[in-house]
Amino acid sequence: MSTPQASTKPVSAASAPNIDSMLKEKRIFKPSAAFAKASRIGSMKKYKKLHRASLKNPDKFWGKAAEELTWAKPWKKVCVWKPPFAEWFVGGKINASVNCLDRHLTGPLRNKAALIWEGEPGEVVTLTYQQLHREVCLMANVLKKHGVEAGDRVVVYLPMIPEAVIAMLACARIGAPHSVVFSGYSAEALKERVNDCGAKIIITSDGGFRRGSALGIKRNVDEALLGTPKVKSVLVVQRTKQEVIMHPGRDFWLHEETQLVSSKCPAQPFDSEHPLFILYTSGSTGKPKGILHTTAGYLLGCHLTTKYLFDLKPEDVYFCTADVGWITGHSYVAYGVLSNGGTSLLYEGVPNHPEPDRFWRLIDKHKVNIFYTAPTAIRSFIKWGDEWLAPHDLSSLRLLGSVGEPINPEAWMWYHDKVGNKRCPIVDTWWQTETGCHMIAPFPGATPLKPGSATLPFFGIDAAVVDDDGNEVPVNQGGKLVIRRPWPSMLRTIYGDAARYRKTYWSEIKGCYFAGDGARRDKDGYFWIVGRIDDVLNVAGHRLGTSEVESAIVSHPDVAEAAVVGRPDELKGQAVVAFVTLKNGVLHSKALKDALRAHVGKEIGPIAKPDDIRFTDMLPKTRSGKIMRRLLKEVAASPNGEIKGDTTTLEDLGILAKLQKSED
Ligand code: PRX
Repeated sequence: MSTPQASTKPVSAASAPNIDSMLKEKRIFKPSAAFAKASRIGSMKKYKKLHRASLKNPDKFWGKAAEELTWAKPWKKVCVWKPPFAEWFVGGKINASVNCLDRHLTGPLRNKAALIWEGEPGEVVTLTYQQLHREVCLMANVLKKHGVEAGDRVVVYLPMIPEAVIAMLACARIGAPHSVVFSGYSAEALKERVNDCGAKIIITSDGGFRRGSALGIKRNVDEALLGTPKVKSVLVVQRTKQEVIMHPGRDFWLHEETQLVSSKCPAQPFDSEHPLFILYTSGSTGKPKGILHTTAGYLLGCHLTTKYLFDLKPEDVYFCTADVGWITGHSYVAYGVLSNGGTSLLYEGVPNHPEPDRFWRLIDKHKVNIFYTAPTAIRSFIKWGDEWLAPHDLSSLRLLGSVGEPINPEAWMWYHDKVGNKRCPIVDTWWQTETGCHMIAPFPGATPLKPGSATLPFFGIDAAVVDDDGNEVPVNQGGKLVIRRPWPSMLRTIYGDAARYRKTYWSEIKGCYFAGDGARRDKDGYFWIVGRIDDVLNVAGHRLGTSEVESAIVSHPDVAEAAVVGRPDELKGQAVVAFVTLKNGVLHSKALKDALRAHVGKEIGPIAKPDDIRFTDMLPKTRSGKIMRRLLKEVAASPNGEIKGDTTTLEDLGILAKLQKSED
């Protein structure tokens, strides 16, 4: 490691050559012999052999893998790659809803639970594959009755209720790409997305239960529709029975419409590359990007990763806590699990209603075997306290998953010890809306785990950490995380903006896909995500990933959560500012600030010691739980804590006012 150099002018962190990586995690957890024996990939030898073969001859690997799907017509060519545009399984015809439903109806899976849903007030609905199939056919016929044809976009604006999954599959059945908009988004955000994709129809509900009350959802649609001239019909699910205004000729109750149509809806086969859905990512700046995924490649990615990385077994109850409004809710609540004939548990509400033990209650009650959640949730559980777990039997769990952000090693350890009772492998999955499915993640029966690392790439994925010229950086040096060849579930374009697609993902590093993350690889080839490249700090010539500094702070026993940003500094380029949330019951103090600074100095080195620590009750997060460092940067840099940036994707606006006053 070089000695820190004083710099007199601020340097753009994102354009400097490398990222220094200083946090060294030494703990390793090997899969138990019993888990390895029972899993599909039971040794590193097997993983390495298959991974090598998949890269040596990708067409052979993906072609063979695609035989696991049910095709209406076989493909002629596995991949046609005209950079940066890919087509997969060219010439083939397929229907995603057939793969998730119909193909399971001819055998014993027919009467198996496909979905188990629990509403926030506590009611439970179970739909077998047969029943789900019927509901999907009914909704598909209602869509047809309202003039929806293959290729027409359908916006789905629903809470976490079974109809959200039914709507996605009904769209897939008739070849109408769905665009699910998170039901917590405002009327304005909905309007922008509806107009961008040009939808003629919206599926929504009167409301949904959240934090103990019935939230209005339909009223946002009414407001959005004042500015969406193309929308002709709105189908409304009755969930809360609250009062809503129904506009005659435009708004229809779904339960009335399904009475008027047949429950038979033969699935049409579509080209492999037929658009399956558009999902908008909000990003930190600019207009949301409509990420377009197509049918066969996406489905194959979801199918394979669910099968191998979650090691899904026929008897498993699988619980993913993500909302259907995010990619995780598409790939790992719906498509991946159902295509494998699995049982997916859906929960409508928040994790702390009526008490902070709701997830543990759900796991105990439904005997969940696989639990997939996000680091932001794990850090909340830690903050709420271990006592909430104690009364519940979590012994049904056999595998835990993590997604959405780098998981701090201490949060990993807590998840492992307290939730998994030291028995369950943690599958930390690195991927993105754009990648469609998991890209870097451990095989639970094979890969030795290192807390905080997403470990190694999935089959067929050629991931690397490179400098700005595309050359791989040395071991343990940070750089840009890229994928060097196409893969079936990759996004195909940004809807309506191919030039932005090319520029955003394929122009930064020649010939490679780059979507903004920094990473390093250790001596075993493991990937450690150090955060978004845009957030990298440049302190006295050292480029530090935010996640490493945050992990060091979170490893202090009093801390629940931390977010680190840079503030322009005359001398060092950037000064390190840490926003810190403490565990319940711990008090703010000057002594604790000093202790935290000393702790970071010990864990990482003096260079990373925060110049400024601010205690806060909450951090600003997006609706999907990602810390909004962009806003924190503004708070840190502006003398009076003023914020001018876009706050539309912020979950709780009240946090900003608190942050501006946060103790420093
Ligand atoms: O920065 C990475 C982070 O989340 C980004 C993708 O966000 P989104 O498209 O909303 O999809 C979230 C669900 C896949 C990535 O660029 N990220 C996601 N998973 C991880 C992660 N960072 C580190 N480790 C992960 N496991």
